[in-house]
Amino acid sequence: MNRKQFLKTSALTLAGIAAGGSFLESCKKSTTGPQGPTVNFTIDLNSSSYAALSATGGYVYSQGVIIARISSLLDGFIAVAQTCTHNGCTLTFGAGSQTFLCPCHGGTYDLNGNVTAGPPPYPIKRYSVSRSGNNLTVSG
Ligand code: FES
Repeated sequence: MNRKQFLKTSALTLAGIAAGGSFLESCKKSTTGPQGPTVNFTIDLNSSSYAALSATGGYVYSQGVIIARISSLLDGFIAVAQTCTHNGCTLTFGAGSQTFLCPCHGGTYDLNGNVTAGPPPYPIKRYSVSRSGNNLTVSG
């Protein structure tokens, strides 16, 4: 390989590395906003599947969302994404602390989905909840 061929090969190699780096850069998570699925569903509070919501502090899962009853008031429900933004563990609800808890590495989120402790890099999405009779609609 002569000098000219060497320089041409080197330039092509560097261009390939640069293009690959650019490609990998585009694969990185680009959002830092709240994480969670887009949903729009209604649950029937009379269904035995959602019986846990009859008591303050109870919670259930549906379609990637954790729904918790935070007070005994008529509309005392809150819904956030159920998946921790750290490594994807399923969150639980701590009625005493009024936080969503990750059992894997101790991450915690407040009622708005903001990270309050632990390694989660992003907040979780909070959903709109509305009640009509015994129907609870979750959307966002
Ligand atoms: S997976 Fe939730 S804190 Fe690590």
